[in-house]
Amino acid sequence: MPSRILITGASGFLGGAVVRTLATTTAHTIIAAAGANADRLPPSSPNLHHAELQLDNPTSIDALLAQSDPAVVIHAAADPFLNSCQQNPDRARLLNTDATARIAYFCAENNRRLIFFSTDQVYAGDRSWWKESDPAQPINTYAETKHNAELAIADSGANAASLRIALTYGPSPSGDRSPTEQIAGQLRAGQHLKRFADEFRTPLYVEDFCQAVARLIEIEALPPILNLAGPDRLSRADFARAIARAHGFDESLITEELHNDVELIAPRPKDLSLNTSLAQSTLNMTFTPLARALSTLAQH
Ligand SMILES: NC(=O)c1ccc[n+]([C@@H]2O[C@H](COP(=O)([O-])OP(=O)(O)OC[C@H]3O[C@@H](n4cnc5c(N)ncnc54)[C@H](OP(=O)(O)O)[C@@H]3O)[C@@H](O)[C@H]2O)c1
Repeated sequence: MPSRILITGASGFLGGAVVRTLATTTAHTIIAAAGANADRLPPSSPNLHHAELQLDNPTSIDALLAQSDPAVVIHAAADPFLNSCQQNPDRARLLNTDATARIAYFCAENNRRLIFFSTDQVYAGDRSWWKESDPAQPINTYAETKHNAELAIADSGANAASLRIALTYGPSPSGDRSPTEQIAGQLRAGQHLKRFADEFRTPLYVEDFCQAVARLIEIEALPPILNLAGPDRLSRADFARAIARAHGFDESLITEELHNDVELIAPRPKDLSLNTSLAQSTLNMTFTPLARALSTLAQH
């Protein structure tokens, strides 16, 4: 049955992709909320309405929830940057934890469902293939604020899913937000890149991410925690080389570095490869191999 769905962070990479998918492939009414960059929202249409949100302002959050009256809230808005969160921890807590808690209590009290964009960073990163049942052990402020948001959601009792999302790639509304856009852009310009050889991820194709969210919306009792990631585990350096190969760019522009070579502003988990068995069975879907997704992206 068509529902009203509120999406925060709709002007961003992941929120924007979900808005486009839901507006074009479902009959739901979408309320797309932006912060400072409303110009990046997809154009409004009969089933896609624009809204404003100041995530640091509880009155703005309450007004948006009351006015949009959603059956489902998809909460993507956040400070998603590791260094910014590490350097401004009070702001990070306000945006990432407190705002999410407020939305969760609204959902619990009003019997609305909540899909929250958490992160793979909640895992410690000292081994491979993390499962949802493994303990979260954040090692930086960004991850801590996201994990505290997950805990607040659980305390609220809302029917909610916290998605532990891997590094995601594909086209973004700004054209330069995603790792494939950034790396391909630099290589196209002939720039040299350094990437970590000792940091491992399971990158997620944004189309798969959108499909996962679209399927979750149709599930009545949401899984409280769900890993979402691609099937390939590789280092940041190998990820950059795979992007270079897909586009036919010069791989020798990419050199390797190690965490120990760099003074990191925020500690970075080394291995955030995610086990996605639960997502595959719950959502009845598989995740696209990296080489196939990169070749599709390079053709466009
Ligand atoms: N991208 C990834 O690989 C990845 C991986 C794991 C988890 N995540 C999570 O997924 C979510 C979306 O990430 P993203 O990559 O799409 O980030 P993004 O492109 O930087 O988008 C962030 C969104 O948050 C909104 N926002 C930020 N501060 C705001 C404020 N004060 N008031 C209102 N809105 C505000 C932005 O709106 P304006 O620009 O309009 O202000 C934007 O729409 C985040 O919660 C992030 O932690 C992302």
